[in-house]
Amino acid sequence: MTELHDEIRAVAERYPDQRSAVIPALRLAQEHYGYLPPEAIREVAAALDTTPAVCHQIASFYDMFQLKPTGKHTIELCSNAPCALVGAEKVLEAFERELEIGAGETTPDGLITLRTVECLGGCGRGTVVAVDHRYRESVKPEDVLGIVEELRRER
Ligand code: FES
Repeated sequence: MTELHDEIRAVAERYPDQRSAVIPALRLAQEHYGYLPPEAIREVAAALDTTPAVCHQIASFYDMFQLKPTGKHTIELCSNAPCALVGAEKVLEAFERELEIGAGETTPDGLITLRTVECLGGCGRGTVVAVDHRYRESVKPEDVLGIVEELRRER
């Protein structure tokens, strides 16, 4: 048994129904692998005595799970209506221009992944952008260069 298997089992013990542990187990697997390749999905399924199809369905539903490798840094931009109303599209275009990639892609050097996501819960302060899971609020197109430069400096 692997360390990941043991960690998943420890989490699963907290739930009366093992299937309730799929989301925390997927989080553990994603931390372990960096994303969720098929072997990670299979490992979660085996540890919870369920099927890879069930785990894949859940992993592909939620924005927080990555089925493809991601860059060292992630920029996640909310594209839901309240952010769209204050210009999220323009902010996204500015990121795409600066990074020379589209949403859902990673820069060729593997440094930054750009994604659009569902509501990040800061709807009154759009556009909300999560940079390595830390929220930036009221982001405007003119803020984009500074954010990207911060990440490039951190390499
Ligand atoms: Fe953008 Fe909620 S709609 S944070």
